[in-house]
Amino acid sequence: MVKDTVDSFSLVSRLFHWVIALMVVGMLLGGLFVGFLPRGAFKSLVVDLHRSTGFVILVLMALRLWWRSVNPRPKDLGPNAFENQIGRLMHIFLYILVFLQPLFGILMSQAFGSQVSVFGLFTLPAVLPKNPAVGSVFSQMHSITALLLAISVAIHAAAALKHHYIDRDRTLVRMISGK
Ligand code: HEM
Ligand code: HEM
Repeated sequence: MVKDTVDSFSLVSRLFHWVIALMVVGMLLGGLFVGFLPRGAFKSLVVDLHRSTGFVILVLMALRLWWRSVNPRPKDLGPNAFENQIGRLMHIFLYILVFLQPLFGILMSQAFGSQVSVFGLFTLPAVLPKNPAVGSVFSQMHSITALLLAISVAIHAAAALKHHYIDRDRTLVRMISGK
């Protein structure tokens, strides 16, 4: 099936989920790693890579949201209605965080006066003039959303394992195999 149904996740939705999940986890670890690097050519390279990958995540998320809006939502499989509701809220929260995180990164970089070049192919138009004070605010926002994202992803992954090993339903299997 190309599209999702009320019972299944399509290949497209599963690819969106796992590719973005891998990229986000990699970016959280990569972002932390960058902080420990001394200034220099290597750090610039890693930061450029971080920025470019972050922009790709933003584009993928826009496509994913569009895909979500033209597909039915597969029904919850968990046995507990309240937990299912919390799960849905968590998914919405994750969508919001994964949008905000790269947006804050772009605004921070531009406010600090750095151009955001995407893999050296093109440069994003500057939406903010250079202003380091504004840059610091967005830098803090980028750190806070990173922390919230890390905590939310940990809870989300733990919930998936609870579905699989404790509730013994097909929630995790369905996100891997579709049904
Ligand atoms: C790292 C291990 C991860 C596991 C085991 C996992 C597992 C799952 C599972 C089983 C679902 C389906 C839930 C359902 O059927 O209602 C799901 C949905 C979702 N996951 Fe993950 N996930 C992981 C990482 C992530 C990450 C890193 C993100 C984003 C940062 C993420 C965002 C989402 C979103 C937004 C949904 C809802 C999809 C939709 O209905 O549109 N997941 N995840
Ligand atoms: C989902 C996407 C992203 C994630 C998960 C992410 C995550 C992180 C994390 C965890 C840090 C370390 C924060 C800290 O030390 O408090 C960081 C730093 C940073 N991020 Fe991101 N980021 C993303 C996207 C972006 C984008 C799109 C840009 C810019 C275009 C960007 C620019 C930066 C910069 C400039 C730093 C500071 C590096 C340094 O220490 O000099 N990030 N990011």
